[in-house]
Amino acid sequence: MSRKLYIITFGCQMNEADSEHIARIFRKRGFELTDKLNDADAVLVNTCTVRQLAEDKAISQIGRLKHWKKAKPEGKLFVTGCAAQRLGARNIKKRFKYVDIVSGAKEIGKIENIIDSAYPLHTALNIDAKPENIYRSPLTAYVTVMRGCSHRCSYCIVPSVRGPAVFLSREEIIRDAKEKLAGGAKELVLLGQTVNSYKRPGYTFSNLLEEILNLPGLLRLRFMSPHPLYFDKDFKRILKQYPKLARHIHLPAQSGSDRILKLMRRGYTHNQYLDIIKGLREEIPDLAVSTDFITGYPGETEEDFQETLRLVSEARFSSAFCFKYSPRTDNPAMASDIPENILEERLDRLLKAVKKISNVILLERIAKIEEVLFETADFGRSSSNMAVRINSAAEPGSLKKVEILSAERNTLHGKVLL
Ligand code: 5AD
Ligand code: SF4
Repeated sequence: MSRKLYIITFGCQMNEADSEHIARIFRKRGFELTDKLNDADAVLVNTCTVRQLAEDKAISQIGRLKHWKKAKPEGKLFVTGCAAQRLGARNIKKRFKYVDIVSGAKEIGKIENIIDSAYPLHTALNIDAKPENIYRSPLTAYVTVMRGCSHRCSYCIVPSVRGPAVFLSREEIIRDAKEKLAGGAKELVLLGQTVNSYKRPGYTFSNLLEEILNLPGLLRLRFMSPHPLYFDKDFKRILKQYPKLARHIHLPAQSGSDRILKLMRRGYTHNQYLDIIKGLREEIPDLAVSTDFITGYPGETEEDFQETLRLVSEARFSSAFCFKYSPRTDNPAMASDIPENILEERLDRLLKAVKKISNVILLERIAKIEEVLFETADFGRSSSNMAVRINSAAEPGSLKKVEILSAERNTLHGKVLL
């Protein structure tokens, strides 16, 4: 009977992609994935530290695994990712004596050797394991195009835990994309912290998009997360020319206040952000745009916050992740100076504003035709990344035109056009 690996992943898509990468390394060594902790011979906790709460969750998860380790002393517990990087192996092992291996996010390139060193008596079986699509749907595969980030946004810990931006080579990326398509993926998601800043000598993000869009077997291409500063002219042309490129972009704004954007070192203003979206919507008028916001950045006033609310209605976001600012350094200047009740209230108002506009955008899709990639017989996602349900049955993995008849609770309902 083969040994089993149980994975717990916190945080962003980058972490999910890393977990899939690690899962494959285990599979090559004869492990199988399990969703039952009690069956596991190895457990992987891939941690996040983007906000304190994310780190706390990962840490308490490690705490809960004490029982597993007690019941299975020969089992091995691996802790990886961004919180592992921030806290360090010594710290984590001191606090949780039963953790076997700690490997921070910066060590992802060495993880294969690290896993082998955890099993010294075991020679690598090197089973030909297929790529894993664990997180979105079996049809959707992540393709990492860069690691780390070289921006210096003042609130963000990512550059320090993942290191500066490193771009994978064109050959590596195309090989990965082809392999994942050959493994049955219909949709690829290109991943990187500032994915559209991708650049190699003589080869841009737009070149990469175009090359991948022409790979046989691909039905849809997404990427995340882009930074507003890096869309070039070619990108607009490609967006227009290739319907396979999703009609949805997740473009983190973080704030709508010029003053706060400057303090955050984001490199754009409220109007510049809007102009970028307007430019893209000149090509694709119903392009869906979602975003991330942080409320309660140190010094954020009610006027600043109003600017964020204004951006929500002007940019017409189809959805937004809204976070309370979480200080990631001990520097007192970076502590939030906004009382908790005001913070809560702003978050609540922001969520309501987003919901209002996102609902309007959903309703606007009624009587329109959406191209839907079916994940099951009756459920799929539109190119604009909206959930779509039908009453009849479609083949999973097929792309169909669906006429939208109604909308409720974040889901469109429609019928397949023949
Ligand atoms: N506090 C709150 N939210 C943060 N994010 C990044 N750093 C912080 C922080 N210190 C949010 C940003 C980013 C998303 C992944 O997490 O909105 O886009
Ligand atoms: Fe969390 Fe950021 Fe690391 Fe992703 S890159 S896992 S969001 S800290």
